[in-house]
Amino acid sequence: MLSPRILSLLGLAAVACGSAQQPFFRPTSQGKNPSSNPFAFSKPAPSVETVTNFGAGFDAYDAGLFTPLEDFSALSTDEYTTLGHPLFPSYNVRIKQSTFCDGTARAYTGYIDKEAHHLFFYFFESRNDPDTDDVIFWTNGGPGCSSSLGLFMELGPCRVNTPHNVTYNPYSWNENANVFFVDQPVGVGFSYAEHGESVDNTLDAAKDIAAFVAIFFEHFTKFKGRAFHMAGESYGGRYIPVFASEVFDQNAQLEAAGLTPINLSSVMIGNGCTHWPTMVTSYYEMQCQNISVPPIQDVSTCVRMKQSLSRCEKWMSSCDDAYNELDCEAASMFCSAEISYPFFNSGYNPYDISKLCDGPIEETLCYPLTKSISGFLDRADVRHTLGVDPSVGNFSSCSDNVNAAFHARGDQMFPTQYYIGALLERGVRALIYVGANDWICNWVGNERMTLGLEWTGQDAFVGQSLREWEVDGKAAGLTRSAGPFTFATIFNAGHMAPYDKPKESLELVKRWLAKEEL
Ligand SMILES: *[C@@H]1O[C@H](CO)[C@@H](O)[C@H](O)[C@H]1NC(C)=O
Ligand SMILES: *[C@@H]1O[C@H](CO)[C@@H](O)[C@H](O)[C@H]1NC(C)=O
Ligand SMILES: *[C@@H]1O[C@H](CO)[C@@H](O)[C@H](O)[C@H]1NC(C)=O
Ligand SMILES: *[C@@H]1O[C@H](CO)[C@@H](O)[C@H](O)[C@H]1NC(C)=O
Repeated sequence: MLSPRILSLLGLAAVACGSAQQPFFRPTSQGKNPSSNPFAFSKPAPSVETVTNFGAGFDAYDAGLFTPLEDFSALSTDEYTTLGHPLFPSYNVRIKQSTFCDGTARAYTGYIDKEAHHLFFYFFESRNDPDTDDVIFWTNGGPGCSSSLGLFMELGPCRVNTPHNVTYNPYSWNENANVFFVDQPVGVGFSYAEHGESVDNTLDAAKDIAAFVAIFFEHFTKFKGRAFHMAGESYGGRYIPVFASEVFDQNAQLEAAGLTPINLSSVMIGNGCTHWPTMVTSYYEMQCQNISVPPIQDVSTCVRMKQSLSRCEKWMSSCDDAYNELDCEAASMFCSAEISYPFFNSGYNPYDISKLCDGPIEETLCYPLTKSISGFLDRADVRHTLGVDPSVGNFSSCSDNVNAAFHARGDQMFPTQYYIGALLERGVRALIYVGANDWICNWVGNERMTLGLEWTGQDAFVGQSLREWEVDGKAAGLTRSAGPFTFATIFNAGHMAPYDKPKESLELVKRWLAKEEL
């Protein structure tokens, strides 16, 4: 989910006024920032993004030199086994196996070590047929939030109720897929870096992820060439298109080195924030029109908001056309003050506009369950089972430092939808699904992003009208689809759609993997 800091980013007025009645404002670690303005992008981000090549490069590879571990059932449940690979001399995999969380399917946990960067993963084999089922990569957003939120609250094999009560999830996405959850970038969840290194933008995070994916498939040989789907939520609307593009472009080097390319089949984005200008302006509709819920603001607030909307749109789109630190900062400040601040003042849950926040948000993210997940992951026996590195301190759902670093770079300002268009042109399918009651990365903004997306199938996509899709004969949401591109809403679900609607979410994913119509 988007962390509270991004809420304070969007609610600039709240920050600027410093009013004590702000339910969502949390003092940020501004001491580290020379500017007291939380919108100061201290390092201007480059004005054009390019997905760079995999840094290490690949040498010609003599497969005869390397015997990957064929039988993972031989892995220890107690100690880590460390695996190396001649092509990746500065990379290791530390891995252990267990039946953690699922009980019926094999689980592997560990680290992929890329020099001083150590990314923690959970990998669950499919409950159906691990030898033929697809592979799904999952990341949560933030930026800075741990994928354990997705695992233990939404789509993983078990759900944490209290630190000492964990129950089986019959709607886990490993029902018929092999699924891994990665804490990324370094500094998030159980992932760490040595020597105080950090990652402050999605492009750099993508390099670690592409390396992670290549190394993972080299070692888990039985999954090589398997259809691969990259999925994420919230800030994942930015991560996933960039990560998948990096994985796609990396394939040329894998092939040149005689390795099996990654069979990147699709991206799946749940309640993503992919394009800020359309998302920020849609905050008005969500609060003031009878869309997912009746208007939650009074008439005078809505009228005031409406009057600033076109100015906000204009500023945002000029920021989009030519990225400029000052323009984008000013646009963000204006839109936040006029459109986001009244929402923060309302007490509603930004992740589910049909409810009030069960907070305070800075402690619970509006879901007290997140505290139970932290309690569970701080248990010594759980850490031992997982093999968490002893250097990792107390668990934190979302890292303030990582979040602040991304904001300082203005990472969220890029028009990330270009990556989705580029992937569609290359045969990588894209599913954009959205719990209809979310405010922060809502369906109205996502729908507008999908309709505005330029690709060769745009006309066919735009020409479709929204229709209902069903589960068990009941309307589960609305959808529009053309060729490789599908947009879908999920009724009565918030930002963490699989948490609210586990059955419908699993059904959606099953149909997507099977390439069926929703
Ligand atoms: C664990 O939580 C589940 C779901 O809330 C509940 O049904 C069950 O009784 C709990 N078990 C224990 C031992 O507390
Ligand atoms: C990639 O996965 C698809 C299934 O989506 C499969 O049909 C295809 O054969 C795979 N490609 C390779 C090269 O293994
Ligand atoms: C608001 O939308 C709901 C659902 O579409 C509809 O049933 C209701 O009549 C609408 N209310 C108004 C005042 O239009
Ligand atoms: C970690 O959590 C424990 C137990 O809640 C607490 O006693 C300890 O002070 C915490 N450590 C840090 C560094 O916050």
